[in-house]
Amino acid sequence: MRRLIIDTDTGSDDVWAIIAALRAVENIHVEAITVVCGNVSLDLCVKNALIACEVANTYFPPVYRGMARPLVREKLFTADYVHGSDGLGEMHLPDPARQAESGHAADAIIDLVMSAPGELEIVTLGPLSNLAMAYLKEPRIAENIKKLWIMGGTGFDQGNATPAAEFNVYVDPEAASIILGAGFPAIWVTWDVACSGTPITPEDVKLLLANDHPIARFCYRCTQSLREYDRKKFGHEEFGIIDSVIMMALIYPEIMRGAYDAYCEIELNRGIAYGYFSIDKHKQLHKPCNATVCSQVDAAAYKQHLFHLLTY
Ligand code: RIB
Ligand code: CA
Repeated sequence: MRRLIIDTDTGSDDVWAIIAALRAVENIHVEAITVVCGNVSLDLCVKNALIACEVANTYFPPVYRGMARPLVREKLFTADYVHGSDGLGEMHLPDPARQAESGHAADAIIDLVMSAPGELEIVTLGPLSNLAMAYLKEPRIAENIKKLWIMGGTGFDQGNATPAAEFNVYVDPEAASIILGAGFPAIWVTWDVACSGTPITPEDVKLLLANDHPIARFCYRCTQSLREYDRKKFGHEEFGIIDSVIMMALIYPEIMRGAYDAYCEIELNRGIAYGYFSIDKHKQLHKPCNATVCSQVDAAAYKQHLFHLLTY
C-alpha cells in the first residue's frame, strides 16, 4: 500500500483532493495531513482539512498545524477572493469535532519520513513553506522520501496570482526555491497542465450529482465562491479543481500522458516576475535538471477517477 502525506492550504479545490485521496482506500493510505497557510489563514485551513476528513467518511488521519506565514515574505497573500472568506464557498460550517494534533507539521513530516526511509510519498497542494521548513530542520528528508508531487508553477501560461506567478509559488517563492535546490525526487504539475481540458463543465456537474451522493453535493457546494469567481472573471460556467488533478495523477499515474526533466528556477527578485517558475525545457542554460515536469494529463480519465471516488 502506498503511504502518503498530504500538505495542503485547504481551500475548496484542496478539499476535493483530500476527500478523493481518503476514499481511494485500495490504492493509498494517507498517513498525515499537514496544513499550511495559503488560500486562507492557517486556522481556517486547519478547520477545512478536519472538515474534509469528516466528509470523506473513511478514516481520519492525524492533521498537523504548520506554517502560519511564508518563510520570508512579510505578509500572507491569500486567495479568499477565489475560495470565499472561509475557504469553502462561504459555508461557514461549525467547528469539526476533531482537533489537530499538538505537534508542528514540519516535525510530523520529518518524523514520518525518517521513520520509514524510502516509503513515504508527499503531495503538496499549497505553498511549500511546511516542506521547506522541514527540509531546513532535517535535510536528509530529501533523500529519504519515495516521491514528491508538487502542484505549483505557471508552466507556459499566464500565472493566476500575477501574470508571471502561480499562487502556491507566489505565496512563498523562497520556500519553492529551497525545495527546487534540495534534491527531492519531485514531479511538478503546473497550472497550465492542471487546467488543460480538466475544468468541470455543467454536463460534468449533472453527472457528478446524478445519484445525489452527499459527498458530491458537499464538494459542489463548497466551490460556490470559486464558481462565482470563474464566472465573473472568465464569463464561463466551468471551474477548475486544480488540486484534484495532481491527486488523481498521483493515485493513477497512468493518466499522466508525459513528463520531462528540466532545470527549473524561481525568480526571487521582488519585481514584476517575483515568484515566476522558469522551466528550461529546451536545456538552453546547460544546467543540471532539478525537477521532472508533467506535460499532459488525460482529462477524461482524471474526471472518471475523481467522480467515482466522490460518488461510490
Ligand atoms: O494555483 C492553484 C493552487 O493555489 C491550488 O492549489 C489552489 O488551492 C491554491 O492553493
Ligand atoms: Ca491548494
